[in-house]
Amino acid sequence: KKIGVLLGGLSAEREISLKTGNASLSALQQLGYDVVAIDVNKGLPQQLLQAGIEVAFIALHGRFGEDGRVQGLLEMMQIPYTGSGVMASSIAIDKVMTKQIFSYHQLPTPRFDFMRPGDSTKDLLLRCQDLPVVVKPSREGSTIGITIVKNQTELAAGIQRAADLDGTVLVEEYIDGIELTVSVLNGEAFPVIQIVPRSGFYDYQSKYTTGATKYLIPAPISPALYKLVQQAAVKACHVLGCRGAARVDFMCREDDFQCIEVNTIPGMTATSLLPQAAKVAGIDFPQLVEMILLDADI
Ligand code: DAL
Ligand code: MG
Repeated sequence: KKIGVLLGGLSAEREISLKTGNASLSALQQLGYDVVAIDVNKGLPQQLLQAGIEVAFIALHGRFGEDGRVQGLLEMMQIPYTGSGVMASSIAIDKVMTKQIFSYHQLPTPRFDFMRPGDSTKDLLLRCQDLPVVVKPSREGSTIGITIVKNQTELAAGIQRAADLDGTVLVEEYIDGIELTVSVLNGEAFPVIQIVPRSGFYDYQSKYTTGATKYLIPAPISPALYKLVQQAAVKACHVLGCRGAARVDFMCREDDFQCIEVNTIPGMTATSLLPQAAKVAGIDFPQLVEMILLDADI
């Protein structure tokens, strides 16, 4: 079967997608698959027809690729694709919607407020008196557009920075704790990773610069918390209806854990978390890519 690796794309995470895509492509080639790279742009239906692929390996991050739109197109074209379907993708890309679903299912998540397009920024500013907070564009990845706001004078600028990237802005209680992440593949949790960025903030630079962050795998936390976050990660993926691989991020204080978000197309770069967790679970990179591929469906 001819496989197309969809990479690049139109989002702010394009550069990361190229890394995820090229690493996945090499692994598939190494395994002997007939594989072609498709750098996604606005003419995608045409590109897909021309390439004549039978399966799509989606290595896109962020909007247009991770948010259900490409998934919908592939369904219309009857091309099986990897990862989550339309609904899970479009919910998980939206941090506000994801947190509303977390709350409904009693998955702990930091207190939050938000504005949707057309809402008054002034009203949001007035409501956000309890600092520090983290201000995020609702539908972005790789920490792009995120500000930790510690005093009132920085709040308006933080909201503006996020609003420039997405009309929906999330303002979330800042959790001063440790950062954990749990990858889930086909409903099973991988080893928990504790993320220790040397700068203190796990931002774009800390995420993609070799050596900028220490990863502790398995995370040296209490066995009770370890189990709880693994269970919560599986539940988060289940309630959103995710398929294939996903990664759930957490902030924790002592044994209190808070679910932050679900990434339906986790990064697969040299410094990325899912491949590291898989490796500790005894699954090497090509094997991981193959497991994701074999789960492709419509
Ligand atoms: N959004 C990045 C790629 C991640 O979650 O790994
Ligand atoms: Mg994310």
